[in-house]
Amino acid sequence: MFITFEGLDFCGKSTQVQLLEKLLTGEGKKVKVIREPGGTIISEKIRNVLLDKKNSEMLIETELILFAASRAQLVGEVILPLLDENSFVISDRFHDSSIAYQAFGRGIDLEFVDELQKFVIGRAIPDLTFLIDIPIEEVVRRKTMVKHVELDRIERSEMDFYEKVREGYLFLASRESRFRRIDGMLAIEEIHKVIVDEITKYSKG
Ligand code: TYD
Repeated sequence: MFITFEGLDFCGKSTQVQLLEKLLTGEGKKVKVIREPGGTIISEKIRNVLLDKKNSEMLIETELILFAASRAQLVGEVILPLLDENSFVISDRFHDSSIAYQAFGRGIDLEFVDELQKFVIGRAIPDLTFLIDIPIEEVVRRKTMVKHVELDRIERSEMDFYEKVREGYLFLASRESRFRRIDGMLAIEEIHKVIVDEITKYSKG
């Protein structure tokens, strides 16, 4: 089973990934957690280029294609072989991140981004995708809490960006039947319970 987690920065998906991994491993299942971008030697190198603060001149087109390149390697090298041996694969972000961030957030043509994702993931289509949804105000609140500072001008302009990314996620949640939107304002344990219930329901077919 292939399960992906999506949501805005600070939505709490990484915590949920860890809780789910612990649960499934405890049940004796074979589980592999991956994070995007990254997960293979080549993909980690691409991740460093993508997240390096010095690369401020990076074009949005370059960004889209680097995310896609990192993903293609991860699919071929790690995800498909594991799914073929019936392992659980849990990914912290996957192709929906590119649709939300690069198409909706950065404004690159949606049809093109969609086609590129189909090319890159092939048959590695997630069975379930959990969208941990939080309002933009909460992203800002959690961000200032971590940084202990008031938001500066650039971070305020980021709010518009996050608003568009969130719209992208909500669009995907209505388009794709594999999506489960969960209220990210619920307590950690409550969110975990919803996730476990959904996986159980899905497994029973
Ligand atoms: P990361 O530090 O992994 O953040 P998080 O813990 O929130 O996942 O950085 C990933 C950043 O890259 C995050 O801001 C989302 C962005 N991103 C894209 O813009 N497109 C993508 O396809 C992916 C996978 C991530």
